[in-house]
Amino acid sequence: MSSAVKRIGLIFGSRSVEREVSVMTASKVYEVLLRLQDQFETVPIFLTAEGTWLAGEAVRDLLSVDTEIRRLADLSAHVAPAEKAKIDAEKLRLSRERYAPQLQNLDRGQQAKGAQPLFLAPDPSVGSLVSGQERRAWLGRQLHPTIDVAFPVIHGTHGEDGSIQGLCELADLPYVGAGVVASAVGMDKIVSKLVFRGAGLPVVEGIAFTRRQILEDEAAVLKALESRLQYPVVVKPAVAGSSIGIAMASDAAGALVALRTAMRFSQRVLVERAVENRLEVQVGVLGNHTLNVSECEELVRSGSIVSYQEKYSENTQPGSADLAPSIIPARLPHLLAEEVRRLAREAFEAIDSRGISRVDVLIDATKMEPFVNEINTMPGSLSFALWEASGIKPTELVCRLVELALEAHREKRVTQFESKEGRALVDRRHLVTPGK
Ligand SMILES: Nc1ncnc2c1ncn2[C@@H]1O[C@H](COP(=O)(O)OP(=O)(O)O)[C@@H](O)[C@H]1O
Ligand SMILES: [Mg+2]
Repeated sequence: MSSAVKRIGLIFGSRSVEREVSVMTASKVYEVLLRLQDQFETVPIFLTAEGTWLAGEAVRDLLSVDTEIRRLADLSAHVAPAEKAKIDAEKLRLSRERYAPQLQNLDRGQQAKGAQPLFLAPDPSVGSLVSGQERRAWLGRQLHPTIDVAFPVIHGTHGEDGSIQGLCELADLPYVGAGVVASAVGMDKIVSKLVFRGAGLPVVEGIAFTRRQILEDEAAVLKALESRLQYPVVVKPAVAGSSIGIAMASDAAGALVALRTAMRFSQRVLVERAVENRLEVQVGVLGNHTLNVSECEELVRSGSIVSYQEKYSENTQPGSADLAPSIIPARLPHLLAEEVRRLAREAFEAIDSRGISRVDVLIDATKMEPFVNEINTMPGSLSFALWEASGIKPTELVCRLVELALEAHREKRVTQFESKEGRALVDRRHLVTPGK
């Protein structure tokens, strides 16, 4: 292994309703990193539902099994019925006998077989991953080798929301993707709407409520909602993802059920006017300064909202995207597609994102009017299919993301974190000889 090989900490899972989605993204990225072994050595690190950090054979096995299940799913979509049945049976066997038990094993945390606790210390002088036994004795220095770059592929809370990013900032470790502020803003649908509006981007009208307001006075919440919006409305947890906890409501009774559901997942809830007759388009943005903007991808949905199942159940349409069935490029008039791409770029800039993001745009199909819906700072599967359709292969995308992480880290080095005012204060207060 040459010294130029970078060690990548591929961090996934975590305390999030989207952690199973994170396993999928991680296995796809892992597969790509394995193809780039001349450049990268990968340490997969799984964060359990309880928040324990684990590495080791069992973690690698979870990703490998997921990769194999995906390979079989792809194969099954392209063979004759007789062979398909055999492949599907094998896929089911792997899911039941390998994937689910391995996930359960890992969720035992410190007791998991084939995995060792291994976490990132916030102290740059430790400069390394620390194993469980050493938790109490970081300075014992019997530490594991350093990682050069963290590659978090966590979706949602405790990962895509600025928390892991904050840890990497403290550790002074380069990391892939958006920084603390962009991650936190992107994760919060209420705050990001304010930022988008502030940047002059079109957003759907909405109103926000806290869980406490709903618990204390549902009637007042409904009254406020109805004074601002007409039914149907869409009710969403401020902080969640993958359509979890989101519902459309067409009357007060439906809104109440939806509010009660949404507030289970988040302390605040956003209620928006429903754009009923709409197209849903996603656009990827890549870069730190010079930005690549992908093609527009059109989501195909069957119900009133694009559901979790539509986003993640294996789709067998040839040429479709990683997740929800989709059409690339979206069937939009050229000028509208260009406008949507411009909005995506501006949304990315508005939250000060970097690395990679995917912007969701809702288009009112009656007026052909676009609205920025949300930004995902860690797009599911990194939107590999969308980038590939836009001329960037998965291996190129992964290399580029690591380069961008290193570039952002280098640029931060230029920032000054001490002041002459502070030093002068110490001089005046503490170094001046008494009596002089
Ligand atoms: N204002 C809206 N009008 C109509 N449908 C919406 C609206 N907001 C969200 N949806 C539907 O709900 C889905 C999920 O909402 P979104 O805000 O993208 O959250 P998530 O983070 O879960 O993807 C969208 O893909 C869309 O189908
Ligand atoms: Mg979305």
